[in-house]
Amino acid sequence: MGYKMKNTIAIGIQWGDEGKGKIVDLLAPQADVVARFQGGPNAGHTLIIGEKKTVLHHIPSGILHDHTLCLIGNGTVVDAAALHDEITLLQKAGVPVHERLRISDRCQLILPYHLALDAAREVARGNARIGTTGRGIGPCYEDKACRRGIRLCDLNAANLDERITNNLHYMNFILTGFLHAEPVKREEVEAALELARIHVLPLVADVAQLLHAQQKANACILFEGAQGTMLDIDHGTYPFVTSSNTVAGAALAGLGVGPNAADEILGIAKAYMTRVGAGPFPTELYNADGMEDAAGKHMAEVGHEFGSTTGRPRRTGWFDAMVTRHAVRINGITSLAITKLDVLDGLDEVKLCVGYRINGETIDTIPADAAVFDACEPIYETMAGWKASTFGATHMAQLPTAAQSFLRRIAVVCEAPIRMVSTGPDREHICHC
Ligand code: GDP
Ligand code: IMO
Ligand code: MG
Repeated sequence: MGYKMKNTIAIGIQWGDEGKGKIVDLLAPQADVVARFQGGPNAGHTLIIGEKKTVLHHIPSGILHDHTLCLIGNGTVVDAAALHDEITLLQKAGVPVHERLRISDRCQLILPYHLALDAAREVARGNARIGTTGRGIGPCYEDKACRRGIRLCDLNAANLDERITNNLHYMNFILTGFLHAEPVKREEVEAALELARIHVLPLVADVAQLLHAQQKANACILFEGAQGTMLDIDHGTYPFVTSSNTVAGAALAGLGVGPNAADEILGIAKAYMTRVGAGPFPTELYNADGMEDAAGKHMAEVGHEFGSTTGRPRRTGWFDAMVTRHAVRINGITSLAITKLDVLDGLDEVKLCVGYRINGETIDTIPADAAVFDACEPIYETMAGWKASTFGATHMAQLPTAAQSFLRRIAVVCEAPIRMVSTGPDREHICHC
């Protein structure tokens, strides 16, 4: 049975890289609009269609489909140079980006001093570094909250020169005086602004207005999240998080629509966990820093677990139902898409974390303090693995009984029904439940 789509918010409910790009691309033919509402080029969403791989950073994962209007909402942050590169690559592949994409005039611009600050802060943090993607995300959102950010609609403002002078004064004071880094030159900032004027301004629109017109016309809207709930600035593993709200609620403020804009909240999760960057990860088994485990290594190798944006190796571990159930609750998840089931093929046993133990006591909530969370020991349920291949399966009945039992258990412990199971990277590799 196919998945009949209503207005849907599709979000990651782990630490990012759950396969959002694949699922959104797969659902996009049923949508009139696909809209991004937060994050920026820290995101890397991979679409595999046959032999062709496309990695998107700013642009919604509906862009490969005819008749899909793609929107970048006010809640996102835009690096004009990175966006221009992304557009150029797509155009070279024959995608008419200018016909399909509109960007909110209220988006904040990532400027060279944001990139410099992101890098210098990570160096200054030493062993306590966040492991950011280095795309200037934190400093850009910081400027937005501080009300000194430059938006796309400010590019031709009369007071822009003065604002840039003030910003550079402040940023270079921090960079040189506090972080012992090189100052940013005014020419670099001017060049970034000019690039934005030439390549981004022609795509700018009042996106909230566009979306309201679509809603009036009864269009089907697919909201595409970036990152994942555990990277949310409020609900994630603070301070090891990104600088935006990644939860379903952010879709509303990040585009300018009301809470009644969505009928379905689809939570996307891998059949195991990964994390790229630092921070707590109770079920971690394997990482590039020397943590060894055969099942974790299997996940990393078979799942090709390398960051889509930075190429960094991802940390891997067992499915953590504590994390995903927390995400189900705070996002109001109505259904789940479980991805990368095929990666677990061949393991003798598979595990699910169903609780944590800390100082001899069992807890069933997510601690707010990252150090406490980090000290949690997972309580596992162990289930039989499966030797048969699930790769490319398109019907639940094709899955081995042990894989079906594993999925059923995930739905029970996460307190949400599974609507889709992804069994390979391609658009075609999907079972609808
Ligand atoms: P996103 O950021 O959530 O869009 O996820 P990424 O694109 O960063 O990472 C997911 C990776 O897993 C990509 O390389 C996808 O092509 C791949 N992928 C997605 N779904 C599946 C699946 O079901 N099986 C396998 N083997 N790979 C998948
Ligand atoms: P998608 O959309 C995985 C992580 C970084 C770091 C933290 C803060 O592809 O799932 P930032 O650069 O945002 O200040 O980094 O967040 N991070 C991601 N991890 N997938 C992503 O995006 C991520 N975007 C940011 O690794 O730990
Ligand atoms: Mg990604």
